[in-house]
Amino acid sequence: MNLLALETSCDETAVSLLKINEGKKSFKILSSVVSSQIKIHSPWGGVVPMLAAREHLKNILPVIKKALKEAQLSFSQIDLLAVTQGPGLIPALLLGTNAMKTLAYFSDLPILGVHHIEGHICANFVNSENSGKLDNYAYPILSLIVSGGHTQLILEKSPRKYQIIGKTLDDASGEAFDKVSKILELGYPGGPIVSQKASEAPIIIENEKNPKTKLAMQKLFFPRPMLKSDNLNFSFSGLKTSVLYFYQKIIEQKISQETKEAWKIVICDQFQKAVIDVLNQKTLSAIKKTKPKTFFLSGGVSANKALRETLKESLTSNFPQISFSFPQTNLCGDNAVMIGVAGLKQYLQLKEKGQLKSLKQNWKNLVPDANLKL
Ligand code: KG4
Ligand code: ZN
Repeated sequence: MNLLALETSCDETAVSLLKINEGKKSFKILSSVVSSQIKIHSPWGGVVPMLAAREHLKNILPVIKKALKEAQLSFSQIDLLAVTQGPGLIPALLLGTNAMKTLAYFSDLPILGVHHIEGHICANFVNSENSGKLDNYAYPILSLIVSGGHTQLILEKSPRKYQIIGKTLDDASGEAFDKVSKILELGYPGGPIVSQKASEAPIIIENEKNPKTKLAMQKLFFPRPMLKSDNLNFSFSGLKTSVLYFYQKIIEQKISQETKEAWKIVICDQFQKAVIDVLNQKTLSAIKKTKPKTFFLSGGVSANKALRETLKESLTSNFPQISFSFPQTNLCGDNAVMIGVAGLKQYLQLKEKGQLKSLKQNWKNLVPDANLKL
């Protein structure tokens, strides 16, 4: 069986084709095409919904065509469609779902509406051979989702029974990276830029010639929001404000451009350390509380090298019995492979329950939802 998946919830138009083995609950990635709109949105310092929609409109059909070509398939060989139903930007979701509903109508194919966050979680089922098996991990699975729109701890006690046990009360972690990058005038999207700058901090501090400045750089420390609270929620907006106030004080000083740039790097490093510390500690608390057998990291921020290293170290030393997975770096951000895998998981569950009949002409029932619940 061949599955075609489309993702258009934000600023990537992505299509993937998966070859499915239903009996083995396994899949192979035949193609994955991601058309990014970063260049279009970066002058605005964030994603502009109507611009995103306009780009999706231009890109959806060419990206589908390209993905089919790379998979060496024609549309007539497709058996199942999957599309992101939400959450996300409604103009972007409307274009994606309507394009796929139209294809479902004319081809009489079944179509699955996929939750974007379930997609991010499912990116972890992909192995290094670009294939995967849905029963490779034991339940309960605890997931930490860190993206531009979400920061959540989700417990999946049995397949597709998701429970949000912690969430951000304000900014998402990726959003905090983006806002800090904007404050420091470093560009968009902030995550990759801030993490690159952060990695340069040790050498910058080492090379600082002014002893007073060097000491101040060594002493910089930002608060760890919600770390001492007895719940699993997050808050990153205060941390971002601390960065803003500190940076304002720095630029008020009469310092050279070179020292200003050095401070930006030190701020990136300390900001990133604060975010990672909170994500790591909350994950450990969630594991203690829920005792999962598997841990998954997912979402755009999961590409962050320092976060992966910290979590790997703390999971192996504190919970050696738990198996854990981080997505391949090319599947951390938005893509359609994850939507296809989550679609497959949903399809197999319907099959097990004997409910495949509900997929007949089900394009009629698929409505995009910007705030879709998991
Ligand atoms: O999952 P994603 O691609 O889109 C959403 O569903 O939101 O996540 C995008 C977010 C952006 O905020 C971006 O700055 C962040 O992921 N990001 C990173 C890194 N790469 C992307 N944040 C920290 N470190 C990174 N290396
Ligand atoms: Zn996403």
